[in-house]
Amino acid sequence: PIDARIDDLLGRMSVAEKVGQMMQLDANRADLDDLISTNLVGSLLHIGERMGEAIEIAERTRLGIPLLTADDCIHGHSFFSGATIFGTQLSMACSWDPKLLERVARAAAVEISATGIHWTFSPVLCISRDLRWGRVDETFGEDPILIGELGAAMIRGYQGEGLDDPTAVLACAKHFAGYSETQGGRDASEADVSRRKLRSWFLPPFQRAVDEGCRTFMLGYQSIDGVPITANRWLLSDVLKGEWGFTGTLITDWDNVGRMVREQRVCADHAEAAAVAVEAGNDLVMTTPEFFEGAQLAVATGRLAEADLDEAVRRILRLKFELGLFENPRAPDVALQAQVIGSAEHARLNLEMARRSLVLLRNDGTLPLIDATSVEQSPRTIAVVGPNADDPHVTLGDWAGSSGQVAWMPDGHPRELVQTVLDGMRAVAPEGWSVTHSRGADIEVLIPDPGGEKWHDGGPRVPVFSPAKVDPAMLADAVAAAGSADYVVAVLGDTIALTGETRSTATLELQGAQIALLDALVATDTPVILVLVHGKPATLPASAMQTAAIIEAFNPGMRGGQAVAELILGLIEPSGRLPISVPRHVGQQPVYYNQVRGQHGERYADLTQEPQFVFGEGLSYTSVEYSNLHIPIDEVGSDGVIRCQVTLTNTGARPAIETVQAYVSDLVTTATWAEKELKAWRQVRVEAGQSETVTVEVPAASCSIVTSDGHRVVEPGRFELLVGRSSRPTDLLSAEFTIAR
Ligand code: IFM
Repeated sequence: PIDARIDDLLGRMSVAEKVGQMMQLDANRADLDDLISTNLVGSLLHIGERMGEAIEIAERTRLGIPLLTADDCIHGHSFFSGATIFGTQLSMACSWDPKLLERVARAAAVEISATGIHWTFSPVLCISRDLRWGRVDETFGEDPILIGELGAAMIRGYQGEGLDDPTAVLACAKHFAGYSETQGGRDASEADVSRRKLRSWFLPPFQRAVDEGCRTFMLGYQSIDGVPITANRWLLSDVLKGEWGFTGTLITDWDNVGRMVREQRVCADHAEAAAVAVEAGNDLVMTTPEFFEGAQLAVATGRLAEADLDEAVRRILRLKFELGLFENPRAPDVALQAQVIGSAEHARLNLEMARRSLVLLRNDGTLPLIDATSVEQSPRTIAVVGPNADDPHVTLGDWAGSSGQVAWMPDGHPRELVQTVLDGMRAVAPEGWSVTHSRGADIEVLIPDPGGEKWHDGGPRVPVFSPAKVDPAMLADAVAAAGSADYVVAVLGDTIALTGETRSTATLELQGAQIALLDALVATDTPVILVLVHGKPATLPASAMQTAAIIEAFNPGMRGGQAVAELILGLIEPSGRLPISVPRHVGQQPVYYNQVRGQHGERYADLTQEPQFVFGEGLSYTSVEYSNLHIPIDEVGSDGVIRCQVTLTNTGARPAIETVQAYVSDLVTTATWAEKELKAWRQVRVEAGQSETVTVEVPAASCSIVTSDGHRVVEPGRFELLVGRSSRPTDLLSAEFTIAR
């Protein structure tokens, strides 16, 4: 019946109404009421307070086609004051836990849908290889399989049991594809990525999203091999809609179609740009007002076939029918909002996610501060120091209402809902302990400038690399606080101004006076616990390796501060694992673990090639030994499953939550290929003094490579299975198996 209803509606629509359906506009336009009431806009984004009104106006139009409402609620409902804000995708990826991600996305969908939003522009399936890129925080890290599984989990969570469930929101796999591979990590320039490279690494997470039933895809901004992604018919039509059978709707990114005229200059005018975009396979066009006249002109002059418009409009109407918007336009529900937005249940889930997302990277035995097995400790003083110790914005991360980039929202998230590390330490420290605070250093990078570059919100600013400016009084205060404490918790990192779209960074170092602060703290006799709160991995100074402990928190979300404090004290076990490799120096990049083999020379002349911390790395408060890796049946067909067993023995005094990682190395390949790739993982709790035998399954079909002519195949032969606690070769046990012809 949906097809019949689409046919009926299409048959009654004028060309202008069809083009209107393809338009997604920013809600902050003065003429919006007129546009909606003439059905000349199909979708709105960033609507905020006018949501209910906009939905109602659409209902009263000639054809009564409902609006599709969208927003960037990428780690919780970013744009609704008081909503639950989880850690960023990168932070949540450290949990390596798809089931938890699915629950997070479900909770987010319940909050998002209650506010009248039908569609969230999440998850991000880009691969982070060049960490200078500003949007690393929005990704799940560097591994295609991990990204694919975590992304699929979020898609399941958002879309729920089916789109007819009023709490379901449309997921959006973005940014299709290769957007993160631009030069120098700069946002949206030419991406240096061949079709084979796309098929090898960048497309698999997106194909996984199609298989999971993701109903929408969003483009990136970049061009590949001279073709703007918006005009890439091979990628959009041949691969996505053809080969993979994607039946959902494709949307451009912000003004992609206009950029083909103005910036990329591959189209002489907006009629040509509209024709090129539609013919390539785009359906919805985000925030290019000129598309409206341009597409109509292209049809009137015969440059664009009306049948091509119909194809795009069909896909858009299908979504609206699938959501049941013609029967129920899903307007904001104020009573429901009061129940679900920022509910206690969601806050508990948020805390659970934050606890699972922290990665302990270094520990000289100082942590945990409270050891459950030892006799009662005397009260301690903890000095919480650093520019990010009490910064709610960086605790939440980008796309979180009150933070820099999204200043168009009237309200931020109430300060009391955000637990910084300082708040967390104060809340969780045992009675009698004291928690002191000193800022110690600033991070200065953003200079407001009336003549500066404008962002979506119209705010002019010039981000600059700022030389370290030490404020001697501030530094002395922090050193004094450290001197009179038993422990220092130094919370360092970056700021929102160094994170996000068009905010790539030339360096990865701790900015401002932070290195001077860390050096000075480490020079005291007080043990320093370094907590990193930032959007993406940083290259750390030498003094970081003289600290007592390092905890990677990324942007841990509203409950992050409590989770960090609990971890430091030992109220929870560390269980996060890095989904991304951390370089020692910006010039080492890229350091992702699954690089293609065949390199001549093992190190730079002036530096090792080893990352500072490897993919999959993360410590616990106990020690776990891996032994007896065993593959009972070592030969399988290409449709079989390799099942291995490995024994984990917890030789310490506390429980371990282990992530058993299975990598595969194809010993001989017809084209050069990654030395090893993650294929599967299992999470298991092993009690102190206990052993567990864990079975990990690797489908033979996943042991494929992309041949030099671009086909993904399993090449029969010998393979090595590597199982262990991280991707570091010395952490892995090995066994061989055969995939038969
Ligand atoms: O969804 C985003 C996208 O990720 C980057 N450009 C703007 C879009 C809409 O806000």
